Amino acid sequence: MVTRLGVDIGGSGIKGAPVDLDSGTLTRKRVRLKTPQPSLPDQVSLTLRRIVESFPGVTGPIGCAFPAIVISGRAHSAANLDDSWIGVDAAALFSEACSREVTVINDADAAGLAEARMGAAAGRDGVVIVLTLGTGIGSALLHDGKLVPNTELGHLHLGGQAIEKTVSNRARKTEQLSFKEWAGRLNHYLAHLDRLFSPDLVVLGGGISKKFGKFGPLLRARAEIVPAALRNDAGIVGAALSVDPWIG
Ligand code: BGC
Repeated sequence: MVTRLGVDIGGSGIKGAPVDLDSGTLTRKRVRLKTPQPSLPDQVSLTLRRIVESFPGVTGPIGCAFPAIVISGRAHSAANLDDSWIGVDAAALFSEACSREVTVINDADAAGLAEARMGAAAGRDGVVIVLTLGTGIGSALLHDGKLVPNTELGHLHLGGQAIEKTVSNRARKTEQLSFKEWAGRLNHYLAHLDRLFSPDLVVLGGGISKKFGKFGPLLRARAEIVPAALRNDAGIVGAALSVDPWIG
């Protein structure tokens, strides 16, 4: 059994756990700490280190899911994090803070990898879109199981502003939308994605995916729409998987 530590950095929480790469299951209960506010690079690195230190027996490189465009370990955006992240080599910063190699991948791409490898999209060919509905909206686009990284489909503009501002789970909560109202907005978004990408399957993830029973039946789309199988752990699992992309 190969085990890797996966950590998912979000706008409000940072959570990590060791992951069994064969089954994609967490081998220990995950640890969650609040994301420091403001979410400055040094403060976030310290929180990451505290999470890593809470799993003393788990050695080896660490995979980290990060809520921004990530190219070769460097952050190129910061929609739900402090702006000072833009241009920062997150992989180098985290590796130094943890005194271990840390690889960094966009959080939704991590969730997409995990769902494609061992979740709701396992064994599915064709065009698959995985959306994480949380503080923002993250996206992973896969074709025949292969990821096209950094798609940022939560930043498509519809009705004059980025879709994540009105369709994320945060928007649902802050605007106190009923599931019917929120599903209406999601349907609008899904129709737009269909016009652009003609997906065969759309996987809806993020913490809210556990309430899929409440809004799923209200969704109307040409593509098949399913909840994420790995729910809110998909980021942790995908981060761990991304350390050794050749395994599995
Ligand atoms: C960011 C994405 C991220 C998503 C989910 C968006 O605001 O731009 O990079 O994947 O939030 O965290």
